[in-house]
Amino acid sequence: MASHSVKTDHLVSIAMNAAISASILAADVACLGDEVDHVLLSGAGRVHLDVMDHHYVPNLTFGPLVCEGLRRHGIDAPIDVHLMAKPVDPLIREFAAAGATSITFHPEATDHVDRSLGLIRELDCQCGLAFNPATSLDLCRQLASRLDTILLMSVNPGFGGQVFIDYVLDKVSEARTMIDASRYAIRLEVDGGIKEDNIAAVAKAGADTFVIGSGLFGYRQIKDPNGYDTVISALSARLTEKR
Ligand code: DX5
Ligand code: ZN
Repeated sequence: MASHSVKTDHLVSIAMNAAISASILAADVACLGDEVDHVLLSGAGRVHLDVMDHHYVPNLTFGPLVCEGLRRHGIDAPIDVHLMAKPVDPLIREFAAAGATSITFHPEATDHVDRSLGLIRELDCQCGLAFNPATSLDLCRQLASRLDTILLMSVNPGFGGQVFIDYVLDKVSEARTMIDASRYAIRLEVDGGIKEDNIAAVAKAGADTFVIGSGLFGYRQIKDPNGYDTVISALSARLTEKR
């Protein structure tokens, strides 16, 4: 019984602190500042910047100028940089200088994981590791004391609009158990394919932050001036519905 009540309490606490992190990969880049203003006003808590280098992943997206531009536009919400790039150290320096709040990278993309995490912290950013669906969480156990964020990919990295990979839910539960046992305040984010119909299951598995791109910015298409309010209210409602 206790574990169930803990689970429920845990869900309620997530609902209280749940953060929807808007992945601007799916935003209208022709008016990026306004798009980000809009989703933040509608209730998104964080901005997620998917940096892809057409080397580590088969896609090319944003550089530090975009992070700098959002800060200059007046965005003071947390900007979480998700590096899908190799090597990572030069980009860590550039994004820290460009105003990143946190910088997360894939362990496969550096030869020295601990050194790259240390570099992010030296530059006064929060640091994290991103785990592809098939990558085990072994590094989390060793590095729990060094991590501010664990980002679990629920799609294979490189593109938005993909389908959520269901077996990652078990990894979310495994990471939640490990984080709670470590007693470190580590943010547990899930990234990829999160929509209204699966966000409750991701929260129930133990995530506290939900990276959403097409499931959020896709609502711009319906030309509903309140589109983002509508979808973020619906997503938040799924997080608070009685389990
Ligand atoms: C994949 C990206 C996407 C993005 C979210 O490399 O990291 O997961 O942030 O995209 P959606 O929500 O459209 O799956
Ligand atoms: Zn991402």
